[in-house]
Amino acid sequence: MARCRVGREEQEKSPGSITTKDSSIGLLRLISVLIIFVVGVVIGLSSSSHIDRYFGLPADQLYKDYAMAPTPATTSGKNCTVVLKCEEEDCLSMDNFLSPKNLTHGMTDEELFWRASMMPKKADYPYDRVPKVAFMFLTRGPLPLLPLWERFFKGNEKLFSIYVHALPGYKLNVSNTSAFYGRQIPSQHVEWGTVSLVDAERRLLANALLDFSNERFVLLSESCIPIQNFSTVYQYLTGSSHSFVESFDNPSKDARGRYSPWMWPTIRRSDWRKGSQWFEMNRVLAAIMVSDTKYYTIFRKDCTPSCYPDEHYYPTFLHMFYGSLNANRTVTWADWSVRAPHPAAFGKANITEGFVQSIRNSVTSCSYNSGKTSVCYLFARKFEPSALEPLLNLTSSVMKF
Ligand SMILES: *[C@@H]1O[C@H](CO)[C@@H](O)[C@H](O)[C@H]1NC(C)=O
Ligand SMILES: *[C@@H]1O[C@H](CO)[C@@H](O)[C@H](O)[C@H]1NC(C)=O
Ligand SMILES: *[C@@H]1O[C@H](CO)[C@@H](O)[C@H](O)[C@H]1NC(C)=O
Ligand SMILES: *[C@@H]1O[C@H](CO)[C@@H](O)[C@H](O)[C@H]1NC(C)=O
Ligand SMILES: *[C@@H]1O[C@H](CO)[C@@H](O)[C@H](O)[C@H]1NC(C)=O
Ligand SMILES: *[C@@H]1O[C@H](CO)[C@@H](O)[C@H](O)[C@H]1NC(C)=O
Ligand SMILES: *[C@@H]1O[C@H](CO)[C@@H](O)[C@H](O)[C@H]1NC(C)=O
Ligand SMILES: *[C@@H]1O[C@H](CO)[C@@H](O)[C@H](O)[C@H]1NC(C)=O
Repeated sequence: MARCRVGREEQEKSPGSITTKDSSIGLLRLISVLIIFVVGVVIGLSSSSHIDRYFGLPADQLYKDYAMAPTPATTSGKNCTVVLKCEEEDCLSMDNFLSPKNLTHGMTDEELFWRASMMPKKADYPYDRVPKVAFMFLTRGPLPLLPLWERFFKGNEKLFSIYVHALPGYKLNVSNTSAFYGRQIPSQHVEWGTVSLVDAERRLLANALLDFSNERFVLLSESCIPIQNFSTVYQYLTGSSHSFVESFDNPSKDARGRYSPWMWPTIRRSDWRKGSQWFEMNRVLAAIMVSDTKYYTIFRKDCTPSCYPDEHYYPTFLHMFYGSLNANRTVTWADWSVRAPHPAAFGKANITEGFVQSIRNSVTSCSYNSGKTSVCYLFARKFEPSALEPLLNLTSSVMKF
């Protein structure tokens, strides 16, 4: 303020308005200019001290915090004294940033998806990053095949993370030694066949994206089982240059027939794809899927019964923009041999060594990276709770875990 006033006065002083013809007026002006200058300086100084009185304290605090910063840094990142009131759990440590310890949070979907959409610009990580596979269970409630999954996961604790989206209000009751303990994410109501199913899938993806170690994301249900052991699944997924989201075109009524002309021209009929809901994708595609608003909004609006968004949104979107990153097939086997809205379900009576072996060998060759593999499926559905006991009997002989 003071400086501004001085500037204006200097401007007035310099021009040739003061002539030698009228030097007494010139002297008077000079004196008045000096008085105004002094008054200006006094006002300026007093107002700046006024400002200091209001803002001085936090500014001091700020400097103190800056000055303190190097000290805790030397005593490891775990010390929270810099951020006042920071509880040990909420500390801004790298550990908590890279993988939230507590999956319970109060974020809305909008906030969560925004956070999850962030991708590091830097190519390498400032820590030893061991890629993990995120197993995302979209369930209604209990996990009847849980003992089978626990056996599958056993001994591989550093290579996977589990996320469970159950119906709101349901609390998974597992012992604190289980791999599923504390792995429930905040959920919302899901109505099967509606866009709320896609919402739940994206909520699972977003929660799993918050852990920077998660590299592959597989969607499973309570009736899914693993048909390979963990090391096979892990190597298959982390070693793949493609994601496994089934995506195909088919002229039938329940494929291309579900396209709505209202989607035109953003989504054309020739872009329309169908595929199994049970996808597997890598981190890049997962972050892209939770970031999309434009296409999601169209599906929400125009893909209504009997169009099922969960069977079309990912296959269509990926086909339109990221087809080259997709294997276009699913790694989750299902029996569609009987024409019905749902694939066949298997109970106790159906489970034999030959049956499980036949799923593992149901297709003899699939493309994988640039070559071929005899392993086409890693998981299978749908299995009833009664299938658990005979399946547990077959893990070591057939599934190799
Ligand atoms: C944090 O740092 C302060 C001072 O630098 C020290 O007194 C305190 O013991 C440290 N706390 C922990 C948990 O390391
Ligand atoms: C996780 O956070 C929620 C609230 O955010 C809290 O109620 C809960 O006790 C926390 N759980 C653990 C194990 O810290
Ligand atoms: C949780 O399971 C344990 C043992 O399986 C059982 O004793 C307990 O009653 C269950 N708790 C609830 C709330 O269902
Ligand atoms: C798990 O629960 C048992 C009792 O049910 C308790 O003794 C034990 O301390 C708990 N372990 C952890 C890691 O919370
Ligand atoms: C996992 O399964 C594969 C093939 O089924 C087998 O070769 C391998 O030995 C198994 N690994 C373990 C750790 O059992
Ligand atoms: C999957 O389909 C896309 C077209 O949507 C194609 O570009 C891509 O090559 C296919 N992927 C493989 C592995 O064949
Ligand atoms: C399962 O076994 C039952 C009883 O043997 C049989 O009726 C049913 O068709 C079988 N289901 C399938 C899908 O094979
Ligand atoms: C599982 O195996 C045990 C012994 O190996 C056998 O007694 C039991 O009947 C089997 N259960 C089923 C359901 O096959």
